[in-house]
Amino acid sequence: MASDLLVYNIGVLITSKEIDIINKTSMENIEVLNNAYVAIKNGHIFSLGEGDYDSSLIESNTILIDAEKNVVIPGLIDSHTHLVHGGSRENEMFLKAKGATYMEILNAGGGILSTVKATKEATKEELVEKAKISLKKMLAFGITTIESKSGYGLDLETEIKQLEVNQILDKEQPIDIVSTFMGAHAIPKEYKGKEEAFIKNVIQMLPEIKAKNLAEFCDIFCEHGIFSVDQSREVLKAAKKLGFKLKIHADEIESIGGAELAGELETTSSEHLMAVSDEGIIALKNSGVIANILPGTSFYLKKEYAPVRKMIDYGVQIALSTDYNPGSCPTENLQLIMQIAALYLNMSPIEIIKAVTINGAKSLNKEKQIGSIEIGKKADLVMFNSKSLEYILYHFGINHTKMVIKNGEIVYYI
Ligand code: NIG
Ligand code: FE
Repeated sequence: MASDLLVYNIGVLITSKEIDIINKTSMENIEVLNNAYVAIKNGHIFSLGEGDYDSSLIESNTILIDAEKNVVIPGLIDSHTHLVHGGSRENEMFLKAKGATYMEILNAGGGILSTVKATKEATKEELVEKAKISLKKMLAFGITTIESKSGYGLDLETEIKQLEVNQILDKEQPIDIVSTFMGAHAIPKEYKGKEEAFIKNVIQMLPEIKAKNLAEFCDIFCEHGIFSVDQSREVLKAAKKLGFKLKIHADEIESIGGAELAGELETTSSEHLMAVSDEGIIALKNSGVIANILPGTSFYLKKEYAPVRKMIDYGVQIALSTDYNPGSCPTENLQLIMQIAALYLNMSPIEIIKAVTINGAKSLNKEKQIGSIEIGKKADLVMFNSKSLEYILYHFGINHTKMVIKNGEIVYYI
């Protein structure tokens, strides 16, 4: 049977299909094909292989794309973003340069709380338009699926507004959006000293978010001075009961047992982990929680990087994401995050690709549909203007994308 679109003459095709290998860490167990082709039909992967494609795969209507020996990989997955928000916080950059810390700025009503104010003030349409500009940039960087959290409302009405923006965006542009409710992102000013009451309030928001089908995941900022391990357990357990899948911002600034809680609750992923303890690493490994690492945040806040090599040695699976948000990582550039991972996390090129493809899919519980180029999966691919994978990681700060295919359609080409 003929295909709708066929990409041939691919120099290096990283399918991200997990394979059995010997003498390698489990983060390098993905398939790499040379001189390969991929055929697409009805928006899905129809056939792939090395060498010449079978002539039965094409007919007069088939779109043929010569990859000219470039690298092709699955569409990138940014599995942790705070895409939908009002305003920007460039002023904080220069307060930090004068010595103020992230937490000091937050405690003075800035930081997340200033974005909460801007997000409350923005209309739904304004939020859609602003986020669309970011999504366009993301698509150009080769991203075909993202996760997008609420958490800049902290009240039911604004949280719902943010999540409805996700729904609208999911329909109106090519990138698939997975929604996460993060009502427990910070303690609003009016709840200072009344944290328990705020926790109750967040728990009361859950049934309506669920009934409106506005979010698949529930996340919380478990951090010293924000939400404790016990408070995080309370919120996440209530969410799990209602059928939400779980994520947790854990051990970002201080090690307080967030990763251990992720292990206990078997969350799908655990985010940040810059200050994770050895016990936390073991908990992640034993419960199969994906460690979602956000090195752009370490870079931007000039903080420690998460101990990724140690986690890989313990057998933890790593995903890499931007954490795109107006405070701790204002960038949509996942390729830059991959380059930072090569430079500062000492991850190998194959480990990095695994982290932004199949492991990104796993951290969204979508590994059956996306994250690898395998027959039957969604035809989400990115072609880079490069003959080698290493070059993409070496030539930093630029955009290497040549073509993006989403659901079998060419949605970006340069
Ligand atoms: O993932 N850690 C909490 N939330 C975001 C930062 C949000 C902000 O500063 O606006 C993060 O780093
Ligand atoms: Fe985050």
